[in-house]
Amino acid sequence: MIKKGIILAGGMGTRMSPLTKAVNKQLLPLYDKPLIFYPLSVLMLAGIKKILIIVNKGQLHQFKKVLPENNNLGITIQYKEQVKPGGLPEAFTIGESFIKKDKVALILGDNFFYGQSLTNILKKNITLKSGAKIFIHPVKKPHLYGVATIGKNKKVLKLIEKPKKTKSNLAVTGLYFFDNKVIEYTKRLKPSKRGELEIIDLLNIYKNKKKLSADLIGRGGSWLDTGSIKDFYSASNFISTIEERQGLKIACLEEIALNKNWINKNNIKNSISFYGNCNYSDYLKSLINV
Ligand code: TTP
Repeated sequence: MIKKGIILAGGMGTRMSPLTKAVNKQLLPLYDKPLIFYPLSVLMLAGIKKILIIVNKGQLHQFKKVLPENNNLGITIQYKEQVKPGGLPEAFTIGESFIKKDKVALILGDNFFYGQSLTNILKKNITLKSGAKIFIHPVKKPHLYGVATIGKNKKVLKLIEKPKKTKSNLAVTGLYFFDNKVIEYTKRLKPSKRGELEIIDLLNIYKNKKKLSADLIGRGGSWLDTGSIKDFYSASNFISTIEERQGLKIACLEEIALNKNWINKNNIKNSISFYGNCNYSDYLKSLINV
């Protein structure tokens, strides 16, 4: 069972400059919430209550303003800083004292997941016993992503980063489950030509040991990357369309915690005073009929 999760919320956000010059991408509004609420909601939906958020050096105070360590979400949030963006696997060396002897989930701070099939897949895979699990999703332009070729029993046969040509249309999303060996394997990695530790190299260590499998987030789920300004606004529009239509919020953290019985009405009231008079608070009020 995986009980700990890391959100990697640093990065340069170069593709979204100048928006990201002064503000970290994960704090920008994806429709009506800061982007970081969405990956956090995924970890919470998976039942993970111990969270480490890795942020850029110097940006801790900004994150703590919106997601304080002492929160009303029934979860524990710790923070660590990354000195400079040295690659995704750094999450496991920076997070070593947080992970300790446990298994861990990693989610990228700018990844958006949604849909009923997602919740089912999370429930199914959170019981991971050993090895690593990636989550794949069909995309129209696989050359923009890490791409996986899958064999029998969903074992991963091949992983290629941004292939020029590929028969597979299955992109590797920014959600990964690992056993505790991830710390040891990360320490074996060498920086690539671009000077970063690469997640594909880490996954390939598991793959070569036949310890890497995949699960498919199919049509019943959505995965949107929010790395470019265009993608960011598409995701924002998607959320606004669904929320306006259903009157239900995507990634309302308190709602998830309440449904899981991690918090009570008083926590919701505290959250309402924390956020102040806003649409998000109105939604929280509707959850507890006040
Ligand atoms: P990327 O999209 O690879 O990088 P970025 O967000 O800095 O954007 P750009 O390419 O436009 O410069 O990162 C994916 C996610 O992982 C994003 O949420 C930032 C985070 N990240 C870190 O926190 N530390 C890192 O060392 C890297 C490489 C990424």
